[in-house]
Amino acid sequence: MKIERKQRVVLVPYPFQGHLTPMLQLGSILHSQGFSVIVIHTEYNTPNYSNHPQFVFHSMDDGLQGIDLSFPSLENMYDLNENCKAPLRNYLVSMMEEEGDQLACIVYDNVMFFVDDVATQLKLPSIVLRTFSAAYLHSMITIFQQPEKYFPFEDSQLLDPLPELHPLRFKDVPFPTIKNTVPEPILDFCRAMSDIGSSVATIWNTMQDLESSMLLRLQEHYKVPFFPIGPLHKMAPLASSTSILEEDNSCIEWLDRQAPNSVLYVSLGSLVRIDDKELIETAWGLANSDQPFLWVIRPGSVSGFQCAEALPDGFEKMVGERGRIVKWAPQKQVLAHPAVAGFFTHCGWNSTVESICEQVPMICRPFLGDQPKTIRKLMLTEEGKDVKKRVVDMKQNIVAAMQIEGTSHKNLNDLVDFISALPS
Ligand code: UDX
Repeated sequence: MKIERKQRVVLVPYPFQGHLTPMLQLGSILHSQGFSVIVIHTEYNTPNYSNHPQFVFHSMDDGLQGIDLSFPSLENMYDLNENCKAPLRNYLVSMMEEEGDQLACIVYDNVMFFVDDVATQLKLPSIVLRTFSAAYLHSMITIFQQPEKYFPFEDSQLLDPLPELHPLRFKDVPFPTIKNTVPEPILDFCRAMSDIGSSVATIWNTMQDLESSMLLRLQEHYKVPFFPIGPLHKMAPLASSTSILEEDNSCIEWLDRQAPNSVLYVSLGSLVRIDDKELIETAWGLANSDQPFLWVIRPGSVSGFQCAEALPDGFEKMVGERGRIVKWAPQKQVLAHPAVAGFFTHCGWNSTVESICEQVPMICRPFLGDQPKTIRKLMLTEEGKDVKKRVVDMKQNIVAAMQIEGTSHKNLNDLVDFISALPS
C-alpha cells in the first residue's frame, strides 16, 4: 500500500544574497521531488516572486523598516530573530488550521535560529539548512569548546598554526577579533547559530566527496541525520535567477568578444565592503596585469561612496575594452563562460562552490598586497597551471557526487524519504 506523505514544506531564509540563494535552490529541489514549497520571508530583501512561480510566498513583518541592513550588525541579527517570532507563529497557526496536518516540516537558515523555538512550540519538525562549508562550522565548534586555548593571542602568533585546526593559523580565526580576542557577544551569537536546538536533521550545501572528514567529525557532535546534497545550484532543476540586485547581462556579450581562457572575474560577493584605498589598489593591480577583466563593483561596496566614483580618474578610459565594470553580474553564467580563466574572490562559500563547479581557479582577497603579481602568476605561468589542476580535481569530486549513483543524489533520496516519514 502506498503511504500518503505530507506534501508541504515551509522554508525560512535569512534575507541576504548568500543565504537566500541556497534556500531558494533547495526549494526548487524539494519542489521537483513533489513537495509544495511555501517560502516565508522577511520584508527586507523580498525575493522576486515572478522568478519562482512554483512557490507560495508569504511576507512577515521583520520590524526593521528604515534600518540600513546592507551590512547587518549583531543587534540587527538578534532583532530579526526576535521580531519575526510572532509573525511566523501566527502564520503557521492559521495555515495549520486551514490545511490540517499537511505540513511536513520547516527548513530554516542557520542564522534564523528563532525558527526552531517556534517549531517546537507548534510541535512541528524543523530542519536546519547550513549555507556554509562544514570546515567553517567545524572550526567554530572546535574553538567554542575551549576558547581560552585560543584567545587572546599575541601578534607574534599570527602565523602559528591554530591548535587542532591545521592548516588554519591564528590570523585565520573564523570570528571577527578585536585586540586578538573575540568579544563574548559575537561568540554567543555564533554559538546560537551553530546550535541546532531540537531540529531533527541538517541539510548542507556541500558535498560528501569534498568534505567527508569534516562532515564525519561534525556528525559526532550533532547526533541528527546529515544530508549533504550540494552543490545546490547544480542539483536544482530550474536555473531561475535568485539575485536581489538586477543582473547586468551585457557583460556576457562583452565576454563573448574575449579570447578563450583570458579573463579575470573580480567579485567580492554581496556583503563585503572595502575602502577607497583598497579599491584603488585593486584598480592598479588589474591595470598593471595587462589581462582582460570583468569587475563587479556593487553599489554600497566601497565605504563612503555610492559605487565606482572612487576609481582613479580616467581609469575606465585607460583600460578601455580590456576591462568591464558592472554593478552586479549573472555570476554563475560568468563563471561558466569559456573566456573566464580566473576568479578574484572573497571566498564566500557560494562563490567558492560555483567556481569549483566550473573549474575556475581562484585568487583569494587576503593576498591583495601581492595582487598584480599574483594575477599574472595565475593566468600565465606553470604555477597557475598547478592551481588549475587542483581545481579540476576538486570539480571531479563534485561531478562524482552529482552522478545519479553519487552521494548528493543518494543523500537527496534519503532526505525525501526522511521528510516523508516525519511524524506529525
Ligand atoms: C555570505 C558569506 O560570505 C558566505 O560564505 C555564506 O555562506 C553566505 O553569506 P556572500 O558574502 O554574499 O555570502 O558570498 P557568497 O557566498 O559567495 O554568495 C554570493 C552570491 O551572490 C553567489 O551565489 C554569487 O553567484 C552571487 N553573485 C555575486 C551574483 O550573482 N552576482 C554578482 O555580481 C556577485
